[in-house]
Amino acid sequence: MCRPAHFEVVYAINPWMDPEKPVDTALAVLQWERLHDLYLSLGHTVDLIDPVPGLPDMVYAANGATVVDGRVLGASFRNAQRRPEGPAYLAWFEQHGYTERHEARHVNEGEGDFLVTDSFVLAGHGFRSDVRSHQEAQSFFGRPVIGLELVDPRYYHLDTALAVLAGDEIMYNPDAFAPSSLKVLRSLFPDALPVSAADAAVFGLNAVSDGLNVVLPEAAGELCALLRARGFHPIGMDLSELLKGGGSVKCCTLEIRH
Ligand code: ARG
Repeated sequence: MCRPAHFEVVYAINPWMDPEKPVDTALAVLQWERLHDLYLSLGHTVDLIDPVPGLPDMVYAANGATVVDGRVLGASFRNAQRRPEGPAYLAWFEQHGYTERHEARHVNEGEGDFLVTDSFVLAGHGFRSDVRSHQEAQSFFGRPVIGLELVDPRYYHLDTALAVLAGDEIMYNPDAFAPSSLKVLRSLFPDALPVSAADAAVFGLNAVSDGLNVVLPEAAGELCALLRARGFHPIGMDLSELLKGGGSVKCCTLEIRH
């Protein structure tokens, strides 16, 4: 995770961002700290990367890399404003002893567009990650990568449209995907939890699950009930300030899979 010490909205690279709208950085830090402390209370280990002045989006750690089997695929950002984050995150992994690292050839925005289930790496494209990064990830991780096309600019990253709940159990917003990708999702994940447009619109899919606890924006009320009915333990969080940058729980969380 990356403390939002320098968080602000001074440019707009997704429809959620409005530089005219004021951001309360102190409140963003407070909300982020609650998420951080929640992970600790759930028994998870949280590593921190130092925030870099001038990189306000660095709080969205999910975009910093993708880590599978301890192998680190570096990120390469679409937009110039975020480009320096790629090397910053890769340097963190180098300093922390991750020897299997790959510098991306094609644009990929880390776990913003790569989500890992037991059997697959699900890979978004359409707005940010280059479709060629999917092949690159498959070669590096040696796991089957399933490309999924995103079509709604509000759901510009895969992690705003789909979340992995446990193993090969996922939930997603059908409206965010191209018809052909929806077909793929339906055939690979027939038991997936469909999420309503209303829950998706409050970033309900930007969730982190440890297989039991599902941490998600608290505004996704109907989704919390559906998750409970499936045996999960949903935990709603208020990350309203970070939503002004177009991110929530999952965006703030890069999962390190050993
Ligand atoms: N402002 C950031 C951007 O547009 C938000 C990134 C959100 N992160 C995510 N994993 N979806 O790039």
